[in-house]
Order: sequence, then structure tokens, then C-alpha cells
Amino acid sequence: MAKLLGIDVGTSGCKVLLIDETGKVLKQASAEYPLSVPRPLWSEQNPEDWWAGVQQCLAEINEPAIDGIGVTGQMHGAVLLDANDEVIRPAILWNDQRTTAECREIDDVIGADQVKAITCNPPLTGFQAPKLLWLRNNELSNYQKVHSLLLPKDYIRFKLTGVKATEVSDASGTGLFDVPKRAWSESMMNQLELSADLFPPAFESSVVTGHTQSGVPVVGGGGDQAAGAVGTGAVVGGVISVSLGTSGVVFTAIDSPKYDPSGAAHTFCHANGAWHAMGVMLSCGGALRWYRDTLCAGMNYDAIGSEAESVPPGCDGLTFLPYLTGERCPHNDPFARAAFAGMTLGHSHAHLSRAVFEGVSFGLLDGMDLLKGLGATAEEIRVTSGGAKSDLWLQILADLFGKKCVTLECDEGPAYGAAILAGVGVGIWPDVESACKATVKVRHSVSPSGVDYLPSYRRYREFYSQTRDWNRH
Ligand code: XUL
Repeated sequence: MAKLLGIDVGTSGCKVLLIDETGKVLKQASAEYPLSVPRPLWSEQNPEDWWAGVQQCLAEINEPAIDGIGVTGQMHGAVLLDANDEVIRPAILWNDQRTTAECREIDDVIGADQVKAITCNPPLTGFQAPKLLWLRNNELSNYQKVHSLLLPKDYIRFKLTGVKATEVSDASGTGLFDVPKRAWSESMMNQLELSADLFPPAFESSVVTGHTQSGVPVVGGGGDQAAGAVGTGAVVGGVISVSLGTSGVVFTAIDSPKYDPSGAAHTFCHANGAWHAMGVMLSCGGALRWYRDTLCAGMNYDAIGSEAESVPPGCDGLTFLPYLTGERCPHNDPFARAAFAGMTLGHSHAHLSRAVFEGVSFGLLDGMDLLKGLGATAEEIRVTSGGAKSDLWLQILADLFGKKCVTLECDEGPAYGAAILAGVGVGIWPDVESACKATVKVRHSVSPSGVDYLPSYRRYREFYSQTRDWNRH
């Protein structure tokens, strides 16, 4: 029976999964690496740490007979390589907010309407294009050394195969990709005076892009959201997936590149040859991790979840805004900030804990509303990534969305999806849809309990809109 490997270069660490063609997970390994915040809204990692993590996982999995590999990972990061393919500086990540001026520069040079028509999105601070302009504007000597620019998972592909390549779902998040045409926009590159030679060729996600030294084919793979959606079966209309990772994402497949006129939802190429729309919040599981590490004196996630369950929904009026790294959808506001509001002497640590779960869930409801605005519907919501392990979180989401939330046998969405894409690439399944039918299986489901979060959600929205200008100066 064929064995397929999925490699996910995440933000808190990397994961490697080995599956068979029934979708069963045979082996898995993970490794963590640090995140550096050299200034309050900057976010960087060392690509060599990703590679060391992946090598450690591969050694642990230690599988000699692999039929295909798919790579996935955090999107949008800028891995800058010199003429000797050495990393020039730490990679600037998806949740870095230093490029407000460069996003404006892109709109000024190209024209905001043109940018949206070509990329199906406005230029956003986390995207790769404004980062390259930032480098030109702020670190000219580094910029002059840049010989190629890769996305995080594509750096791992390069280390595995020696081939520089990308694929359409991740390239869609660079801000230089023609999303309707599924090809680089050389016209945007020319107007921004960026050399097209810096960018690797873009393939469809299940196409073989190269081979490892031992001859194993490596397919395009996908950005973590597109690959994650493959791992949950969100490859056809009527399925909405919610990923509770460092970022929080509400995602649906669409069959044509429908653009959100408000620019608040993203439209990208999907890994199945079609397109997808999604709402991305920057600090979801990341807010919970920050809370655990700063305010919980050694408690683990289970302990935080249990004390949160002891508090009534709505937290007796306490609200948490999760904007620890600014916010992307729906506000597109690098200056948004996190806060607890509405505290009284009656509030305890358990209230703070529940407020964090509720606050990030309200952010996901914002994302769900964006997709509904594009016409998306679903009878059940498929929840995946680390946060899917929390029953409390699933219940809050089921109540907020008013829909059944299901978890899956394998909740490692992106790595699982990358392995599935590898299987399509090497001919195990004819297409992504049938691969998902053969592999993705529901584990358990949580139904709405009738709790009404509307007053708390309104308070959350109101609190952000009242305070949004506080942090602009
Ligand atoms: C998607 C996004 C994040 C990162 C990290 O647009 O920015 O989901 O891919 O997971």
C-alpha cells in the first residue's frame, strides 16, 4: 500500500505525517522552533530552524519507502536567498506588520482597483510583495543581495530537492500573483521595478515539482490554509472549515475567483484547481498561547479550559479583543490592539480565561460573516488544527455559528492535506475531491446548545470600533 508524507512548516513548529492510501496516519513527528519579535509588530524566524526541525522529524519517522511528499506551511513569509542560496536575513512572517507604507506604495504605483482586479485582494501588510519593497526602502544592502525569494514551504522544497518552485495557492498570498489567471503578474512586477527572475515558477498544487536525492517525487503542496482545507475536505461548495491554529481561518471553496468588494475576505487559488475564499484572523490559538505564557503561571491548556468552563457564557460582561498582532480580516488594521475590557472586582482569573476563548471565537464569527456575504452556506462546520482538541471551544463555536461543528479523525489539516496532494500527484487518486472522499473521516460533532452570544458579540464589535483610533499615533 502506498505511503505518503506531508510536511507542514508551521509558525510554532513543524509537523511531518506519514499516511497510507486509506488515509490512516502511520507515523507522525513534530519539532518546535522559536519566533522572534525584534520590535513590537515585527515577526521573524530563521529558515534554517525550519529545515533543522524538518530533518529532525524525518529522522524520527525514518521511513525508507515513501511514494510521494507534499509540502505546506505558514503562508506569505519572505525567505530571501543570495546568489549562493544562503539565507540573507531572518524570514519576515505572515503576521508581521511593518509594511503599512509599502502597501500604500503598491496601491499608488499600480492603482488600487488594478491591484484588486489582478490579485483579488488589496495589498496586505503580511503579504510578500510589500516585504520586498520594505527591504528595498529600509535594508538596501540586503535587498541588493537578493537572488531569489521563496515562501516558507518552498524553502523546504528547495532543501529537499534542490529545485526552486512554488504553487498557485501559496503564490496567491504574495500580492504579485494574477489569481484569476493562476500565473505571476509580470506587469505588476515591472511596474514595481521588481525583477521577475527573483520568483520561482508556479505549478498547480498536485503537480510533481522535483525529486529528493533518493528519488521520491515532491508535489507542489499548498499554503497551509489551502492544504489544510484539503485535509478537512473543504474542496467543494457547502463545506466550511475553521482552522484553530496560531492564526484562525474560516474557509470555503468557490468555483470562480469571486472577489469581496470590501476587500475584507481573501480570494486565492485553491489547491484543487479552483479557488477559495477565507477570513483570516492573526491571533487565534496564538492569543491563547500568549495568554497561557504571560498570565497563567504555569497552567496548561486543559487547566485553562476547565476553569473557563466554570464561568457562564458572556463572562459576566468581560470582553477580550484578540488583536495582539494587529488584525487582518475583517478590519485590515495593523494598528488594532488586544485588550480586556469591562472588568470588575467580581471577575476572576477563570473569567479572563473564558473571555479569551470567546474573544477569538468572535473574531472567527467575523470571518464567517464575510463568507456568508459571498454566498457561502454549510450544514456543518469542520473544525481543525490544535484548538479542535478543546470541547469548550467547539461548543462556543457551535453556539456562535448556530451550526453543528465536527472534528475529524486526523486534525493535522495542513500536513494531512499535503500528503493527500502528494497522493493525487503520484496517481493514487484521480483528483483532489475523490482523494478527500477516500480519506477524510468525521470523528465527533458538537451541536448548538441554544446559548445566545449576540449581546456579548455586539459588545465586542462596539469596543473595537470605539477604540480603533487609540493606537494610530
Ligand atoms: C493565511 C495566513 C496564516 C498563515 C499562518 O493567510 O496568514 O494562516 O498562513 O498559518
